[in-house]
Amino acid sequence: MRTMVGIVGGGPAGLLLSHLLHLQGIDSVVLEARGREELEAEIRAGVLEHGTTELLVETGVGDRMRKEGAVHHGVNLQFDGRRERIDLEGLTGKTITLYGQHEVVKDLIRTRLDAGGEVLFRAKGLGLQDLESEEPKVRFVKGDEEYELRCDFVVGTDGFHGVSREAFPEGARAEYGRRYPFGWFGILVEGPPSTEELIYALHERGFALVSTRSPEIQRLYFQCDPDDDASNWSDDRIWTEMHARLDTDDGWTVNEGKIIQKNVVQMRSFVCEPMRHGRLFLAGDAAHIVPPTGAKGMNLAVADVRVLSRGLAEFYRSGSTGVLDNYSEICLKRVWKASRFSWWMTSMLHRFDGDNAFQYRMQVAELDYVTGSRAAATSLAENYVGLPMEWREDPEAIARTTEGMDA
Ligand code: PHB
Repeated sequence: MRTMVGIVGGGPAGLLLSHLLHLQGIDSVVLEARGREELEAEIRAGVLEHGTTELLVETGVGDRMRKEGAVHHGVNLQFDGRRERIDLEGLTGKTITLYGQHEVVKDLIRTRLDAGGEVLFRAKGLGLQDLESEEPKVRFVKGDEEYELRCDFVVGTDGFHGVSREAFPEGARAEYGRRYPFGWFGILVEGPPSTEELIYALHERGFALVSTRSPEIQRLYFQCDPDDDASNWSDDRIWTEMHARLDTDDGWTVNEGKIIQKNVVQMRSFVCEPMRHGRLFLAGDAAHIVPPTGAKGMNLAVADVRVLSRGLAEFYRSGSTGVLDNYSEICLKRVWKASRFSWWMTSMLHRFDGDNAFQYRMQVAELDYVTGSRAAATSLAENYVGLPMEWREDPEAIARTTEGMDA
């Protein structure tokens, strides 16, 4: 098999890249290890930055998101018995949209398949070869057969545990990161939302978050032991913990409902440098992981493939490798800023070492400052709605090749 761009991994990064390339007349093949149903059912965070929603709309995959997604104009921080609102729109002029990641995946799969795109499900990548040549190859297995996909470029969008990053030769990459000493216990709940806008809460018992998926489904989380198991938590025990961390003195209480899913999310920060080796490019979780507290994961993946699609389009149009050569540098600037923001939100809102009262009081003071100072609130807000695309700040060569592209 041969294609122009071989994409290993059919999550939002891989599918969106394939879509963006198609719009510029570039062929690709997406290899996805899981089946379509499994992929479309995977529940991940659902906060889309302003720039992410714009890109989806501009490239024709945003219709259902615009209809069914919920536009949020602010978020709440709750601490020390108070709830304070950060006016995202008032402070930045921008909003966020709540729309599940798996809904984005569904929209992208349908769009790719309707356009005759090649998305191979249950195609498991085995390894990548000849990355330094002009014809890199992906070996994969589908059914009982082994295949080789020959390409001009390979893009690894196969997540943190995928094979792509491992294909960098010994010593060709550095990895930075940490695990956090807690996880998130997440539940999906049938029933009306408890709140219109998200609530991020710091409580003496630990972090909690109230989010939504739709007018009928709530998404709630609380900080738990990273090695805890969903089966240790009865519904009663979950609701007792939610109420303890979230209910306020003025009578507001979290709405209970039927719990239809429970899971424990591990938390880590991770960055791989560089994001390119030869003709292999990494994008999304294959290259970086952020803890979910800033809701940046999918947005970073979208920013990566936006730069990459531009670079590949430039290469096929003119033979120039200007953007491709700067891909890693351009993306990593944004990645590190989002990593810093996610780490900061996580640090401010979680209990790290049991009942360290000094640290807790520092966190309350920081939340009081962040919600009380317009400057500090604006800093949180501009990160939360998404920083502008980096290439605006980059060298002239990049500016020239990205002319006409708006953030
Ligand atoms: C979610 O709705 O799943 C969600 C929202 C905000 C976050 C993380 C996850 O920061």
